[in-house]
Amino acid sequence: MTTPKRYLVTSALPYANGLKHIGHLAGAYIPADIYVRYLKAQQRDVVFVCGSDEHGTAIPIQAMKEGTTAQSIIDKYHPIIEQNFKDLGIQFDIYHRTSAPIHHETAQEFFSVLNNNGDLEIKETEQYYDEEAKTFLADRFIKGTCPNCGHDSAFGDQCEKCGKSLSPDELINPISTLSGKAPVKKATKHWYLPLNKHEDFLREWILKEHKDDWRSTVVGQCKSWIDGGLQPRAVTRDLDWGIKVPVKDAEGKVLYVWFDAPIGYISATKQWALDNEKDWKPYWYDADTKMVHFIGKDNIVFHCIIFPVMLKLHGNILPANVPANEFMNLEGDKMSTSRGWSIEMDDYINDWIKKDNGGAAMADVLRYYLTQIAPETKDSEFTWKGFQDANNSELVSIFGNFVNRTFVLMHKLCNGKVPPFHNDLIDDTDKELIANIKQTTATVERLLEDYKFREALFEVIDLARKGNQYLQKKEPWKKVATGEQQLIDNSLHLCLQLTANLAILINPFLPFTAQKMLHMMKVVEKMLEWQNAGSLNLLRTGYSLRAPELLFRKIEDEEITAQLEKLKQKSAANRQPSTDNQNEAASAKKETQNLKPEIVFDDFAKIDLRIGTIVAAEKVEKADKLLKLSVDLGFETRTIVSGIALHFKPEEIVGKQVTVVVNLAPRKMRGIESNGMILMAEDQSGKLHFVNPASPINNGSTVS
Ligand code: MF3
Ligand code: ZN
Repeated sequence: MTTPKRYLVTSALPYANGLKHIGHLAGAYIPADIYVRYLKAQQRDVVFVCGSDEHGTAIPIQAMKEGTTAQSIIDKYHPIIEQNFKDLGIQFDIYHRTSAPIHHETAQEFFSVLNNNGDLEIKETEQYYDEEAKTFLADRFIKGTCPNCGHDSAFGDQCEKCGKSLSPDELINPISTLSGKAPVKKATKHWYLPLNKHEDFLREWILKEHKDDWRSTVVGQCKSWIDGGLQPRAVTRDLDWGIKVPVKDAEGKVLYVWFDAPIGYISATKQWALDNEKDWKPYWYDADTKMVHFIGKDNIVFHCIIFPVMLKLHGNILPANVPANEFMNLEGDKMSTSRGWSIEMDDYINDWIKKDNGGAAMADVLRYYLTQIAPETKDSEFTWKGFQDANNSELVSIFGNFVNRTFVLMHKLCNGKVPPFHNDLIDDTDKELIANIKQTTATVERLLEDYKFREALFEVIDLARKGNQYLQKKEPWKKVATGEQQLIDNSLHLCLQLTANLAILINPFLPFTAQKMLHMMKVVEKMLEWQNAGSLNLLRTGYSLRAPELLFRKIEDEEITAQLEKLKQKSAANRQPSTDNQNEAASAKKETQNLKPEIVFDDFAKIDLRIGTIVAAEKVEKADKLLKLSVDLGFETRTIVSGIALHFKPEEIVGKQVTVVVNLAPRKMRGIESNGMILMAEDQSGKLHFVNPASPINNGSTVS
């Protein structure tokens, strides 16, 4: 593959409606930053844009909560979020805002082009209207039950539980979040993007062209969208917060936030170009630009389906890849700022970077752990214990330890100078280390180009691990007594060259650490250029280096306990039954418990539950999970096949009482007809327990 002429890298524009948590950071910002730092080290032409998403109903809703105006909400959160990213080393070329005039103009122009070309449809429909608040209810101003998963506070535009994108009409039992009342329908006119007309293009472009180079999770989501049937999508709203629809007769209407926000990537590029006396156009029009969008999975449809259709109609280039991440959970639960079950970037910075004498090194620790557990292929989980382990047993014990040992030994055994390398004394262990350095460079490069950040990081740490093993094998400190200075020289020369290589390789991931290493090695920034990776001449023989500084510090158990305690208190505070938060907290709690949608008594009464006793049990051949049971129900003995073989031995359950669903339709499993189902309770560790009366009762007794 030829190297693209230029890159445009974007990270999802966060809503400026509140602080952002480390799940956001792991999903769309850290991976993008790693990728960009790598490309820049490769001397490629790359612009990295981001900024605040300041429209949509999320902003006025937050304003209502805080008792202030939408404008003051964005003015409050925009600078905080921008600074948080800086403190964590996310190095955007521009952090723009969608409230900027240049963005309003850009988005309006974009809309006008599509509208004038006849690419939009205008339709009058009936939409939900709040008679008390005298306003139409767009997106988050309307809530109801999700038709897909039953979550009872899905928004009018999306269910945050299952991620499904919705329209208000699909919500079951809709209510207005303004008045709490059920809304009425009222006629209104809107502009629609007819996605249905672009199905062939999308199939061809995503499901054929990109089926192998995009992540399978992304292609899979797109496929189910397309297969589900694409509908025209409204791109305007009746709302007073947003970008005015630039046509006559559109009083009180604004562009839908998901129409204007991605155009924010374009206006940010324009502003960057103005600030730097560059031309923005090639980044959005030239086919030799490689555009990559970094997002979380809830943004896939917007970046892979809707925005590309808009871009195609407007004559822009399309993204080359959209490496979306899955979600990151926290200590066994879904991360959520509103429920207080989250670690905000701002919290982390205050607790670990500002307070800690490790300072910016602690930014790298977070970057490290979040990359190590990046939800690239499936949801992952942040735990404070895992964070501590990653720091103590990898950053401190492997990477930091290698660099520190190398520097200490070099000062002790080589007068603080880079010792010479005596070629005639090279041995197989040296050769193997050299080969590993070159090999790792090539592997890391390939993985980064492939957006496999966690694997790439693993390779870098593994190289440091090999450095430790090398030192352990060579034991240069033992050669002082025997006077073999040349062997000491050789091993420390190689360890120092490896240290310089590690600085280059770790730089995209842990930029603050790389800077510290440069300082210790007394070399300039230029050394970090990627072309230098794999070289064994990075540090000149005879060059004197600074004293070592510890790169990372150990994290103590008490610090971890304190964070766990803080998290508990924060979520408890957010669960306090207070006025309008009450419902939200209750439903959020339900959500984490995976509660099913409500049923009526008649639904329940259909189930016939009886107590029975297991009288025989045996394994089902070639099915390691199944047991064939005979259950005495008093009125008869039945055969029931149950998937509990991994939990119980047949002999230990004979004689046990169980609860049985006796009117479940018979089902054949491995050729055996099963006539009923045994109820099981599952504890948090995943262990199964029978559900039975506290003391034995007659078989056939009813349960209700
Ligand atoms: N604000 C959106 C969110 O947080 C992301 C917008 S991405 C953009 O989910 F492309 F629209 F900018
Ligand atoms: Zn849902």
